[in-house]
Amino acid sequence: MDLQLTVDDRAGDRTARLYEQMRDAMLDGRLRAGDRLPPTRELAATLGVARGTVATVYDRLTAEGFVIGRVGSGTFVRPDVLPDRSRRAPGGEVRPRPIWASLPDPVPEPPSAELDLSVGGPDASLFPLAAWRRLVSQTLRPSLLGAAPYDGQGDAVLRREIARYLSTSRSVRAGGEDVVVTNGAQQGLDIVARAVLAPGDIAVVEDPGYTAAVRLFASHAATVVGVEVDDEGLIVDRLPSRARLIYLTPSHQFPTGAVLSLARRQALLDWARRRDVIVVEDDYDSEFRWQDRPLAPLQSLDSCGRVVYVGSFSKILMPSLRVGYVIAPRSLQSVLRQAKQLTDWQGDAVTQGALARFLAEGMLPAHLRRVSKVYAARRAALLAGLDALAAAGLRVQPNAAGLHVCCWFDDRTVDDVEFAVRAAAVGVAVDPISTRFITAPARPGLAMGFRRLPAERVPEAVRRLITVLAGYR
Ligand SMILES: Cc1ncc(COP(=O)(O)O)c(C=O)c1O
Repeated sequence: MDLQLTVDDRAGDRTARLYEQMRDAMLDGRLRAGDRLPPTRELAATLGVARGTVATVYDRLTAEGFVIGRVGSGTFVRPDVLPDRSRRAPGGEVRPRPIWASLPDPVPEPPSAELDLSVGGPDASLFPLAAWRRLVSQTLRPSLLGAAPYDGQGDAVLRREIARYLSTSRSVRAGGEDVVVTNGAQQGLDIVARAVLAPGDIAVVEDPGYTAAVRLFASHAATVVGVEVDDEGLIVDRLPSRARLIYLTPSHQFPTGAVLSLARRQALLDWARRRDVIVVEDDYDSEFRWQDRPLAPLQSLDSCGRVVYVGSFSKILMPSLRVGYVIAPRSLQSVLRQAKQLTDWQGDAVTQGALARFLAEGMLPAHLRRVSKVYAARRAALLAGLDALAAAGLRVQPNAAGLHVCCWFDDRTVDDVEFAVRAAAVGVAVDPISTRFITAPARPGLAMGFRRLPAERVPEAVRRLITVLAGYR
């Protein structure tokens, strides 16, 4: 038998390693039907392993039907073992269909850096871990594990609490029966897309906009059309005449931070009503407001059952919890429940149960007050530093909400992706904005998050960004 076998020195792995090599050799044709395996004693001596190791491997290969032992003459590859010729053949891999057609591949994330001004989830160190442990342990009872209804709606107490919280904090008009709990806003968008989009339907997104939503609608074979945003949010006058769905972030446009003006809110709702369009309002981040009172959500202004309201606990607690929700007009509710049930039944009952207790015990307002204080200090430090950056050619767009700010380069020829790489090289993580454009001509800028960097470290990050900017003059 001309077969290269090796075993490494780590005890415990030898049997498995030898078994895999011999099995693979039979599957890819290096050992053929009828070939005789070396006697156990001989192979053990060649490999420097105990004879028992080889005997165990032969026993397993015999039990699985790869080889057969013949008393007095040895162990042979069974005649019915056929090599799987595709195993090593080039091109033998499964070729998936692209999840989204017609969109470029995502730009690789800029490398992480010591001074983190990137955009994303909240500061994990502010998560109420001790309270959460207690709530999970109180929730995790045998009675819970068998009790969750598989109705696709989610924990009933959590739904009631979400409705109560949104009606007081955001004037959202809903009861618990109107809420579908999802695995984050992303699954919320997915079930909405399943419920209303047919292949080829036009899904309008803000341009620049939230890439995860863009890709999601594209993955449902929708034609994704970007509509420009300005300082008042989505430019409603530019909506295409034929659209099935409009996705937008009116309270804090992602990534620019613009707030959709009241006039545009009304124009959008009027437009949607006249043309039978579903408006998907993503109200992410609306809890963090730094100046004026927020405008009422589209959902609360909607009198014609056009608006689907999507929210998430990713920014106020943690994205890793994967809890979000969808509140839809009555006409869509049962199909949304079906879509949710189809994808993963009712979601994670333990996390939902713990979150229900968190809300029912009134812990969310206290948590928000505590973290908002920290973020407000970090935001103030960043805005102070941005004055110096404006003088160097990077101008901040006024923004009253959320955990990041958006800045634009005066010089429109700057390559912001390359800028982010250069910033990472001096230890500062920032996110380029040009990658968030869909069809509008990309404009270079940076989204800068103040979620993680302690206020006292912000001036150093700004100083380093100024040195990177100086390299562009
Ligand atoms: C625009 C937007 N919507 C929603 C979310 C939340 O998504 P998820 O709930 O799926 O974590 C984010 C990111 O945190 C976001 O940037």
